[in-house]
Amino acid sequence: MAVAVTVRIRLDKYLADMGYGTRSEIKKEIVKGNIRVNGAVERKPETKIDTEKDKVIYNGIPAVYEQYEYYMLNKPAGVVSATFDRKDCTVVDLIEARQRKDLFPVGRLDKDTEGLLLITNDGELAHRLLSPKKHVDKVYYVKIEGYLTDEDVERLADGIDIGEDRPALPARLVIRKSGTVSEAEITIQEGRFHQVKRMFHALGKEVIYLKRLRMGSLVLDETLKPGQYRKLTEEERNGLC
Ligand code: URA
Repeated sequence: MAVAVTVRIRLDKYLADMGYGTRSEIKKEIVKGNIRVNGAVERKPETKIDTEKDKVIYNGIPAVYEQYEYYMLNKPAGVVSATFDRKDCTVVDLIEARQRKDLFPVGRLDKDTEGLLLITNDGELAHRLLSPKKHVDKVYYVKIEGYLTDEDVERLADGIDIGEDRPALPARLVIRKSGTVSEAEITIQEGRFHQVKRMFHALGKEVIYLKRLRMGSLVLDETLKPGQYRKLTEEERNGLC
């Protein structure tokens, strides 16, 4: 887990990182005298700021530096897991309270998938959570058209062929209800393209609803409605090693 440490960065970068504008827009504001550092007007964009100690005021409002931000989003259907999209709303667009402009989703959920998505700018953490070598559990709630059987449980536990060089790693399926529409929880440790849908497709069944419930130690806060988000608690952040 990345720990926020004191860093010294240029005043214009400090403000740009916090989303106050482009470096050139910010430089103009600095030169105009609209930024104060520790009470005094600072007109030099290159002035080094201690992110922990120095107090920066932008047009009268304190500009607090956040080196890392961590948000839990309950992703709604219809939104894409990207930082930018020409046509659709992205998961990052939903985080209106964000300070930093370099946030990204940790992994992708399909446009029609709902549920837990971590949004951060902590690249090292994202790498650890997504690395196939780390075998981080991802738990999904699924609704399936048709019956689920013990044979499905066994075939997924053996590692099912989804049409690639290697079969999927063994997955754990817990059937909650079997009927014309079945409900289950599936735990996988990879993040291949459309993985859960393809695993059920290989069993001859189709996913009609998919929602991620957990990623590693991070559990979806069920009080968040689709589209809602909140910052991770200190405990949740520290648990994601
Ligand atoms: N597997 C899928 O098929 N889709 C997702 O969005 C996530 C996992």
